[in-house]
Amino acid sequence: MTDKGKILVVDDTPASLRLLTDILKAEGYEVRSAISGELALRAATSNPPELVLLDIRMPEMDGYEVCRRLKAQPATSNVPVIFVSAVSESDEKVQGFEIGAVDFVTKPYQRNELMARVHTHLELNRLRNHLEDLVGERTAELKESEKKLRTSLLDSITALAATVEMRDPYTAGHQRRVAQLAVAIAKDLQLPEEQIEGIHLASVVHDVGKIRVPAEILNKPGRLTALEFSLIKEHAQNGHEILKTINFPWPIAQIVLQHHERLDGSGYPQALKSDQILLEAKIIAVADVVESMISHRPYRPGFGLEAALDEIELNKGKFFDSAVVEVCIKLFREQGFNFSI
Ligand SMILES: [Fe+2]
Repeated sequence: MTDKGKILVVDDTPASLRLLTDILKAEGYEVRSAISGELALRAATSNPPELVLLDIRMPEMDGYEVCRRLKAQPATSNVPVIFVSAVSESDEKVQGFEIGAVDFVTKPYQRNELMARVHTHLELNRLRNHLEDLVGERTAELKESEKKLRTSLLDSITALAATVEMRDPYTAGHQRRVAQLAVAIAKDLQLPEEQIEGIHLASVVHDVGKIRVPAEILNKPGRLTALEFSLIKEHAQNGHEILKTINFPWPIAQIVLQHHERLDGSGYPQALKSDQILLEAKIIAVADVVESMISHRPYRPGFGLEAALDEIELNKGKFFDSAVVEVCIKLFREQGFNFSI
């Protein structure tokens, strides 16, 4: 039976080694013995035991050194070490505990006491290892399922975005390019990775509400009437309606609702002011304006990069968040940012 526990016994005195080994074997433990520190390390490393009973006074490499080395290597660092020694000075015991021993048995020992300690430390270590395995498994499972969830979220949201873009070829790719720029801005602002992921998803669907705007208005070349324009403006609210029931780990619906808000309250649909607007929405607002101005539309050519950057610079602190504008301009002018899609 190996189930009771694998123990390595280390002692440089053959008689002591023999005695200890015999006692443990009689109790049903699987015992290996080592006559020196060197041999003990080799045995422990090649096949880690569940417990080490270690003599202190040994020539060449003493028990303290063996313990130190066991604790220093990953394969044996968690193996409990009990010193079995004639040493009775308490400062020597303290030294033993300091380098990682779990217990101390003084020679000559009572057989029952020794067995009780061996049993306790083996059990404790088994429980600890079991718990560690459990936590490890649970963490791995959680990570895996979270990864799957995120992937399927992104898939669904991309499909949703593609549906809108199919109806609205003029802005096809607009959302993806806005996402690209918004994420680059968020990264430069050193936002947490979690938040950047939310910005990415929100950007990819920020115009999803256009699905409820009549196609002939979306696809109309030339100027829009006031009524037509008011219908287009509803897309922010519509996007919020579509997304609000989905339980995202980010405020996606709110971000989408706010992406046309402006710091001075001149935006829509709620005419929110600076501190009422989510940072995510402020970032998407800038990326949205820049991308729209650069892009060509069938009814007008693109305004060009310089005009787009001038526009946000001019309205920095008025419509658009200053820090976001500065980062956006820096990305284009100094870091050669380019839409790759
Ligand atoms: Fe929009």
